[in-house]
Amino acid sequence: MNKLDILLGLQWGDEGKGKVVDALTPNYDIVARFQGGPNAGHTIEFEGKKFVLHNIPSGVLTPGCINIIGNGVIIEPHILIGEIEGLQKAGFDLRETLKISNRAHLILPTHRAIDAANERALGKMKVGTTLKGIGPTYTDKTARKGLRIGDINSADFSKKYESLKNTHLQQIAALGFDMNGFQLDGVAFAEYERLWFEAIEQLKQYQFIDSEYYLNEALDAGKKVLAEGAQGSMLDVDFGSYPFVTSSNVIAAGVCSGLGIAPNRIGKVFGIFKAYCTRVGTGPFPTELFDETGETLRQNGHEFGATTGRPRRCGWLDLPALKYAVMLSGVTDLMMMKSDVMDDFATLKVATAYRYNGQETKHLPFAACTETMEPVYTEIHGWKQKIEGKIPQKLEDYIKFIEDYVGVPIKFVSYGPDRTQNVWR
Ligand code: GDP
Ligand code: IMO
Ligand code: MG
Repeated sequence: MNKLDILLGLQWGDEGKGKVVDALTPNYDIVARFQGGPNAGHTIEFEGKKFVLHNIPSGVLTPGCINIIGNGVIIEPHILIGEIEGLQKAGFDLRETLKISNRAHLILPTHRAIDAANERALGKMKVGTTLKGIGPTYTDKTARKGLRIGDINSADFSKKYESLKNTHLQQIAALGFDMNGFQLDGVAFAEYERLWFEAIEQLKQYQFIDSEYYLNEALDAGKKVLAEGAQGSMLDVDFGSYPFVTSSNVIAAGVCSGLGIAPNRIGKVFGIFKAYCTRVGTGPFPTELFDETGETLRQNGHEFGATTGRPRRCGWLDLPALKYAVMLSGVTDLMMMKSDVMDDFATLKVATAYRYNGQETKHLPFAACTETMEPVYTEIHGWKQKIEGKIPQKLEDYIKFIEDYVGVPIKFVSYGPDRTQNVWR
């Protein structure tokens, strides 16, 4: 049976998924997103150009590749149209190559307002969301109240919109949040709503499909399909550091529900991770560094959010967390990113266990958010040289250490943001 491959982030997002999907796309006919929405920011660089994609799959920069926004994804029409227009200006016309699932849910402007209201109400305990309306939209989806792409063409779409919006306004008022003067991306709410409806009209030029049939039939016909994850396993709504997580299943299981692909149709699972760790937003991060080393990682790695511009929290590689993520998704091939960021380090550390409740454990505890977990580190010598197409022996030692711990081979090492800066092992 022809199978679909998956590429997933194994940490807290921003591992470099955009770059790798783009680098792998020449081997695939179709790239499909299966969860998340414009909370994602996937960066692709080549020939001195840089693109950041939010709602659109990272196969769009490869001519001829079909890109699918699957049913598990949530779509913000104004953001999506903005992205499409940006790509059009750069010479990429998506009218033939972008297909959107009828079943993908819509993010309304009021979903974004609820996101802001929820965060404000949480105060110090806020999640630090991307304010793109992710939690409220997935909430409406599971509460069976959401609007979907396929609803856009129905005669009573405006009525449905108004009805859901009114429910939202009641929720917002109950949170004590004042909509007077509220802006989205610097635009007054009423004007934003107008732009949102304009984007809905523009979206009608694109193909709305039943992507579950499209993908299964494409696989039957022998097409090569890659599913592109967003976020990272430690932000998974079930297995991440709840409640400091996103609102979707970002692990491999999310592909089944997010694209309508049966488990026995899954082939390779590429799991990608940085040679260190980063996190944006609130929540536990056992190996976080608050010192100069953390700042060096941030500066060398340009660790500032692709979606929100926020500085990313930085720390050492966390192997128990990585192994957990590998287990949850059945990762077959590991890909290590951003090793170049530590080219100058004389020594580095990796966490191999946690000290928690007076005991040493290799498991992530349930109460990770409320209890202190202290990492147990192993020190490793740095490679102190540039990578430039060949992996230095001391970096090989670091790779071997990770492989032995996690039990899966590292097949790909990335040493720069450009599409070509990779070594296959
Ligand atoms: P994604 O969300 O997983 O697609 O990752 P982001 O795009 O949010 O963040 C990854 C950042 O690292 C982007 O700015 C990439 O251009 C950059 N990047 C990717 N791989 C490498 C690498 O191997 N080395 C360096 N220095 N930068 C990289
Ligand atoms: P990519 O695909 C990093 C984080 C937010 C916040 C939490 C919940 O680029 O790797 P949400 O807006 O989803 O309700 O926010 O999840 N988050 C990400 N962090 N990369 C991402 O995506 C993220 N998407 C969401 O910072 O902590
Ligand atoms: Mg990102």
